[in-house]
Amino acid sequence: MIYYYLIFILLTLNISLVLFINKKKIKNYLFKSKIETINLDKLDDIFINNKIDNKLYGPKEDVIIKSFCISANNNIVGMTSDYEAWIISSLSKISNNIFEFGTCSGKTTYLMALNSPQNAKITTLTLKPENLFDIKRGQFDNKKSFRNLINESIYEKFLFSNTLYENKINVIFENSLNFNEKKYLNFFDLIFIDGGHTYSIVKNDSEKSFKMLKQNGIILWHDFVPGKESAKNVVKYIHNISEKKNIFHIKNTSLCYYRNY
Ligand SMILES: C[S@@+](CC[C@H](N)C(=O)[O-])C[C@H]1O[C@@H](n2cnc3c(N)ncnc32)[C@H](O)[C@@H]1O
Repeated sequence: MIYYYLIFILLTLNISLVLFINKKKIKNYLFKSKIETINLDKLDDIFINNKIDNKLYGPKEDVIIKSFCISANNNIVGMTSDYEAWIISSLSKISNNIFEFGTCSGKTTYLMALNSPQNAKITTLTLKPENLFDIKRGQFDNKKSFRNLINESIYEKFLFSNTLYENKINVIFENSLNFNEKKYLNFFDLIFIDGGHTYSIVKNDSEKSFKMLKQNGIILWHDFVPGKESAKNVVKYIHNISEKKNIFHIKNTSLCYYRNY
């Protein structure tokens, strides 16, 4: 009898251990997102491929972009994937007024400047290390997102600093919670929300973006990754707001978008 008890206890311990180790995977598997995932060509016609042959489709001229890579040993924090960077760069080609919440190293800002029309203007809002005293974690803000926000607020010079493209870019060092969106109502063609990933900041940045977005303009959110601890508040906010706004997830990315039709 004792022998059976022992086997039972060992089995239960084993199963609990496997469940514990795989808890993230299981959570992801069980998570049912309410946000529809769409193919990129639904976002804009520029992404519809050219037919080269029955078995081969290729990019149109509209999405051939200027780009760069940074070697991994530079340890730059908070970056988009190459595919996401290409999507944002392509949309920049058809955008004259662009806004970004969260500059960080300025990788995306630089790509926007490289690819947007010559007279385009990019405004990017970010925190300086010395602004951080002003930032407090709210009651519903995820701890890890708050820690990341602090760790990512380390740059005062950017990848585009001292380049030919710097004059297209206006950097505002300010806490987005204090940022006055009123002077930019219905102004921007493209807005990239990639600032603080806590609930209070994502909500603030999104609500301001809805007001600043022009007719037919696009808002993109970065880091929609269900199951990822530091993206928890982004996912939660997007789910909440999707009850009022038509928001889609772009396949094979962590990007969600809203278009102001
Ligand atoms: C994930 S990084 C941005 C990455 C950048 N968009 C890119 O693609 O390379 C987050 C940035 O948001 C900024 N940030 C976080 N909370 C902010 C706030 N409340 N107001 C302004 N900027 C904020 C941080 O200082 C940091 O520069």
